[in-house]
Amino acid sequence: MDDRFNTIAGWVLASGIVALGLGSISSHYFRADKDKRPEKMGYEIPGVASASAGAVAVPIEALLAKADPAKGADVFKRCMSCHTIAQGGANGIGPNLYGVVGDNIAQGRGGFAFSDALKAHSGKWTFALLNQWLTDPRAFASGTKMTFAGLDDPQDRANVIVYLNSQGSNLPLPAAPAAGAAAPAAVAAAAPAGDATKGAAVFQRCAACHTINPGGANGIGPNLAHIFGDAIGKGRGGYAFSDALAKLGGKWDAASLDKWLTSPSSDVPGTKMTFAGIDNAADRADVIAYLKAN
Ligand code: HEC
Ligand code: HEC
Repeated sequence: MDDRFNTIAGWVLASGIVALGLGSISSHYFRADKDKRPEKMGYEIPGVASASAGAVAVPIEALLAKADPAKGADVFKRCMSCHTIAQGGANGIGPNLYGVVGDNIAQGRGGFAFSDALKAHSGKWTFALLNQWLTDPRAFASGTKMTFAGLDDPQDRANVIVYLNSQGSNLPLPAAPAAGAAAPAAVAAAAPAGDATKGAAVFQRCAACHTINPGGANGIGPNLAHIFGDAIGKGRGGYAFSDALAKLGGKWDAASLDKWLTSPSSDVPGTKMTFAGIDNAADRADVIAYLKAN
């Protein structure tokens, strides 16, 4: 008996020693990597599209050009538990979608009771916005009533969007732009003054990372009080800007903010602001008016 006990005790001890050894080897191994920066930060902020989200990575115009409304009708079967699309069709869990492409976001539709989250998006359903919405409804409008996870496959999205377009909208598909060509026109179109009150609603998309009250804390992004007219990438209570933004120089004005908020990562490659951007020019003008007023 005693012998058996000693043998068992011996094995337990031995395996403990082996485990200790492995533990120190593996911690040593991982230590070697310790001061390398991870390529991707380990968390995502809900409601914020990362720069790799479909809307940015894949030019929707190119996918729309080869999209097939018949395949889209098939994809639309996944929407039919909540949506009708025939002209005059009833609202169900979701609104009837006849003619939705190019129509106002979250308005009309026979008095459907939209969520405040979706109503906070002013403007119209463009092809690009539908692409964002259908990628991840909750990222597009955090708090939306559309409890649908989204369509992962970009071509499925393009197919269902051309199908939606064929049901009462029939808008011309956007031309695939030569790289960068569309941007100046978008800036010019944003020139009309925005509405600071509407901008406050748009700013909810920024509030996960930014405060704006004077003296407010820096968070993931810097406090933005009086940012309009202030130096780019400087000051802000010692906020640690990326080199990319810090070395830009100059001051924030309507044009530079419009370009930045259209797509931070294409405006300033290497920026830390992991925000996909605001597609809608009127939303940008509104939030810029709000920044100017604060
Ligand atoms: C589980 C139910 C459900 C499913 C499935 C669903 N939706 Fe929705 N959808 C809704 C609800 C609810 C709303 C209203 C959202 C709000 O008010 O926040 C909505 C809103 C919309 C809107 C905005 C309409 C407007 O007038 O602004 C579009 C466009 C849309 N859905 C398209 C789709 C498509 C395309 C699919 C399938 C790929 C789909 N939905 C699947 C429930 C659903
Ligand atoms: C996911 C977090 C996040 C979101 C959402 C976000 N930002 Fe930022 N923002 C940042 C970070 C981080 C920086 C610093 C960028 C750098 O140093 O490269 C920044 C920088 C900025 C700057 C430059 C500040 C300066 O002092 O030069 C402005 C202006 C700005 N953001 C506006 C906005 C607006 C407006 C929105 C919403 C439409 C928004 N941001 C959404 C994280 C975010």
